[in-house]
Order: sequence, then C-alpha cells, then structure tokens
Amino acid sequence: MSRSLTSIERFERELKACWARSDALFERVPHESLLDRPIQLRHPILFYMGHLPAFMWNQVGAGALGLGPLDAELDGLFERGIDPHDQGAARAASIQAWPKLSAVHAYRDRARERILSLIPRVLATPGELCEKGRVLHLCLEHERMHHETLLYMFQEHPGLLALGEQPELGDGVSPTLVHIPAGETRIGARWEDQDFGWDNEFSIHTQHIPSFELDSHPVRVIDFAEFVDSGAWMDDRYWDAQDLSWRPEHPGSWVPSEQGWRIKWIFGQVPIANASGWPAQVSYAAATAYARWKGTRLPTEGELNRAAYATPQGDWRAYPWGEQTPGPEHGRLNFERWSPAPVGSHPAGASAWGVHELVGNGWEWTASRFGPLPGFRPWMSTYPGYSADFFDNWHQVVFGGSWATHPSLVRRSFRNWYQRRYPFVFSSFRLVR
Ligand SMILES: [Fe+2]
Repeated sequence: MSRSLTSIERFERELKACWARSDALFERVPHESLLDRPIQLRHPILFYMGHLPAFMWNQVGAGALGLGPLDAELDGLFERGIDPHDQGAARAASIQAWPKLSAVHAYRDRARERILSLIPRVLATPGELCEKGRVLHLCLEHERMHHETLLYMFQEHPGLLALGEQPELGDGVSPTLVHIPAGETRIGARWEDQDFGWDNEFSIHTQHIPSFELDSHPVRVIDFAEFVDSGAWMDDRYWDAQDLSWRPEHPGSWVPSEQGWRIKWIFGQVPIANASGWPAQVSYAAATAYARWKGTRLPTEGELNRAAYATPQGDWRAYPWGEQTPGPEHGRLNFERWSPAPVGSHPAGASAWGVHELVGNGWEWTASRFGPLPGFRPWMSTYPGYSADFFDNWHQVVFGGSWATHPSLVRRSFRNWYQRRYPFVFSSFRLVR
C-alpha cells in the first residue's frame, strides 16, 4: 500500500513540475504572438498549448483507460503536431480558426485535473501501458520533448522573448584526438531493465566496432566559419547530390549583416564573436559537407555509444561520467542557462576515454539513419507510430542532449532523431578522424 502511495505522489509531483515548466514557457510569449508560426511547417504556438493536454488525455484517459473524449472537438483539433516531412502538413497548417486562449486554458485545466485524479486508476490497471505508470511516463517525456521543440521554435522568432540573460563569451576548446580501441557497443535496453522506454529503445543491440579516432570535442562556430567563409559551403563537391537543390546560401542559424555573421539564439541574434565557442548548430546535410571538406566523416550511433558509455576496463556506465544522475557540472542541460556554453566548459562530464560533451550542450548528428533495433515492437498501442512513422531513410539519429533537454531524457538507451535538412534544432556534431 505504501509503495503505491509513493508512486502516486511521485507522479503527481513530476506532472505538476512539468506543467509548471510548460506554463512558464508559454507565459513568456506575448498574447499577440500566439498565432504566429515561427517555423512555417509547424503549427502556431497556440496549438502546442492545447496539444500537450490533448495528447495527455488521448493517451491516458481515452487511450489507456477507455474513458471516451474529454472534449471531442478539442481532443481532435490538438491531437497531432506536424512532422516537416508529413504530407498532411499543408492541411493542418491551413486551419484558420483556432479557439480563444481562454478556451484553451479551460481545456488544459480540465485535462490536468482529470489526469491527477486518474493516477491511482492507471497504476491499478493491468497491461503494459499502465503497469509501472508507463503511460504517465510517456506523457511526461512527450511534454518535456515539446519544451525543447518550443524553444527552438522561439529561436526562429527574433524578438519574441524579452532578453533573459547574456551569452557566455569564449572561444572554447579545440579538439584533440581520442583513440577508441575496437570492442563492443550496445544500443538500447532490455525491456525488463527499465520502468519506461520508448518503443525505439528496445531491445538491446550489441555490435562490434572497429577502432576509431574521435574528436574530444564538437565542432565550434569558429571552426565552421572557416568552411563558410572560405567558399567551401558553396562548393558542390562536398555536398550529397540530393542536398544540392536544397542547399541555402548559408547555415539556417546564421544571419548575414554588414558587420559579419550574426548567430541566432533564443533571445535574438548575437555577433559571431560572442558565439565563437558554441557548438556549431547546423543541419545534418551541412555537417556531412563539413566533414567531407575535412576529408573525414561523422561518427555512427554505435561509435558514439561506445565513446560515451564503454570503459577501457570493459564496464558500461549509466552516463559518460559514471553513475551519478546529471548535474550542472556534467553538461549544459535542463535550461540551466538558455544558451549553449563554450565547448569544453564541462570537463566533469567527460567519458572514460576522455571524450567531452557527449551529453549536453547540443545533440550530435550521427551517420546512422534512424531505424528499429532488432526485436522492435511498437508496444505503445495508443501511439504505434511514435517511431515507425520515421523509419523512412530521411531521419538521422542524434545523440546526447542539448541545453534544452530534460535530464530524464539522457538515459543511455534514449534515442532521438531529426530529418537531415532540419536546420532549426539544437544539434551540432563532431568528427571521426
Ligand atoms: Fe507532440
């Protein structure tokens, strides 16, 4: 009895903290901007205000517990976001009449109240979705991932947020080469070892990785500027043929000005000199072009897993730095500040091999297409397309986590992915030599 009470309280506390964070993010947006769409292929900001409670109700109330709609119209309207590759995007984006803010708030509050009251029932319901409160974890992690999505959307809307802090200055650290000997890597987890994991995390995949040399730190803005300013950015030889017709004139997060490049950040733009040490945030297509220019390549998902979690003694760590849960000393995560740190600012987060920043400060593009692990099973009956909709040869695995990533999302088995040309995300990269 006391054990289930503890679980109930734990979920209540986590849900309330998560919702408070959602509210704090939306409260920063001026009301007159709520229908703006900072990224054209995504819904207006207001959609996400309704989407988070609608998703929760559709998963928990309607889905796992079979309780029917909370509000049939709004449950449907706010059901799904838009994947930029989605053919239905144009239809969804054409919706003209969004509900009033007060109606969205009322819907959100009703959903939250019902969910809190249903926690004991979820925990007492048999089946994979409800056991261990999995469907509640699913909603929590979905909402935390949306916090990051919202932040990179806000970054595409200069002037949306009032200035909250100053960027940390500094050129950061240039990489040294780290030799990782041949050995085993593991991706994913065993079902029985975790209370919750998304479908793409199961089951565990073991692989032999030949030895490789990996940069100790990610590529910085100051490094990437050489590629752009030398004219190599516009040299077709370095790009995948399929990306040439798409290639913009410069990285999506860079803005030309008379004084030189300005780099987008959450509070607008900063002169490149003030962002020189940040990890270079570019699309996968641009990252691979840079690697080709350097005569090398991006690491695979397996290689980064080995560099992060394996040790020379043959053990496996929970995090690159060991078993301790992530703290501010290990990496820039969890909106501890609202910007990346100059590369090399978190030496306490280095892996056993001495590879820095594998978790935090920026996701890292990998050369691996997003796909299922052996034994993949879309176990979430209420959300069967979570991963499977993206097994399309168009999405790349990204590794680690950014300044906007919640610490619960950097468990070893967590996998994330973005489409190859997506320039908006907090994703950088490093090189194999
Ligand atoms: Fe969503």
